[in-house]
Amino acid sequence: MNGLEISPFIQSLPKVELHVHIEGTLTPALRWRLAKKNNVPLKYATYDELLDSYKVTYNHRKEVNGDDGRPTFLEVYFAGCQVLCDEDDFYELGMAYFEKCRAMNVRYAEPFFDTQAHTERGIPAEVVMNGYLRAQRDGARIHGVHSTWIFCFLRDRPFEDGMKAYEAALQYATVNNGKGLFHAVGLASNEFDKPPLLFEEAFLRARDDGLHITMHCDVDQKDAADHVHEAIFQVCTGRGTERIDHGLNAVDRPELIQGLLDRNIPLTLCPHAYHRRQKTEVLFSKIQKLLEAGVKVSINSDDPTLMHDVWIDGALQKTQTYCALSKSDMVQLCRNAVEMSWAPKDIKAGILNELDAIDSP
Ligand code: ADE
Ligand code: ZN
Repeated sequence: MNGLEISPFIQSLPKVELHVHIEGTLTPALRWRLAKKNNVPLKYATYDELLDSYKVTYNHRKEVNGDDGRPTFLEVYFAGCQVLCDEDDFYELGMAYFEKCRAMNVRYAEPFFDTQAHTERGIPAEVVMNGYLRAQRDGARIHGVHSTWIFCFLRDRPFEDGMKAYEAALQYATVNNGKGLFHAVGLASNEFDKPPLLFEEAFLRARDDGLHITMHCDVDQKDAADHVHEAIFQVCTGRGTERIDHGLNAVDRPELIQGLLDRNIPLTLCPHAYHRRQKTEVLFSKIQKLLEAGVKVSINSDDPTLMHDVWIDGALQKTQTYCALSKSDMVQLCRNAVEMSWAPKDIKAGILNELDAIDSP
């Protein structure tokens, strides 16, 4: 990881992860095995060729920079999804993440999932959610990792398709005597020309249903700061979102930083994801600026297996090293994640107690 080792201190911190796409945790090994099991053709003749494919650099802004032959991140991400076919596959994916969480001392997570990436391949939404629901229960029972998930609308698909997916998913929510898988909605996929307000009706509906609201505001996307502005000041009939995923471009405009502070809207940052495209000094000074302004942020991974295998522990390590943070600053970042989460009170209290007990001069 750019010559950085995860320190015993970072390893020992009790963690909460609030920004991770479950399909972005699919390891090449599991992808290879499921492809064979389900007879899904891969472009790669051997496992080594598949591994090599993870070393490519992406064309992050094809719409802006043109097609230079390299894939976009999301093309690679959706290609990975193809091997997930039956309920056990989704279960295994979830359980592999929770096993990894346990190894990293992640106590609680709010993974993003969507059903549209799977239903558009002919997989019934129930297959997806039954697998995740079992993983949610067994992740807590077997690995001690609790979770409540976040249903994402794919913002680059027709709005009506997203609403149909939401209607079908609602019986799996924590509300209305649902099955308890998810407690919030979010926005994922390609943000180019897809500002948050396009999904206003969906946010209002989800809020009426008693769910929490968050949304990706991708970094350095076209109109990035405008999207952050909509998320803070305009969505939910002007009340704003509860959380923003990424949102780093708030540093571009003082009124956005002020808006985050005034409205108490925290950011789920994924520093390694940005570090792939931004110079160390540039990126981490932006994060420092947010911290100094008092914006509440948490540190997360995003899509670790598609991002050089840097997980939440690596993201925390990078943040400590490149922002020159003390141990007590790091404890505070972990505390932020607990406070920003929508975890049940007892789970929050348990992790906060653990954090209070850490000796961090
Ligand atoms: N869906 C999965 N990973 C994503 C990412 N990094 N950005 C937007 N949508 C995503
Ligand atoms: Zn994300």
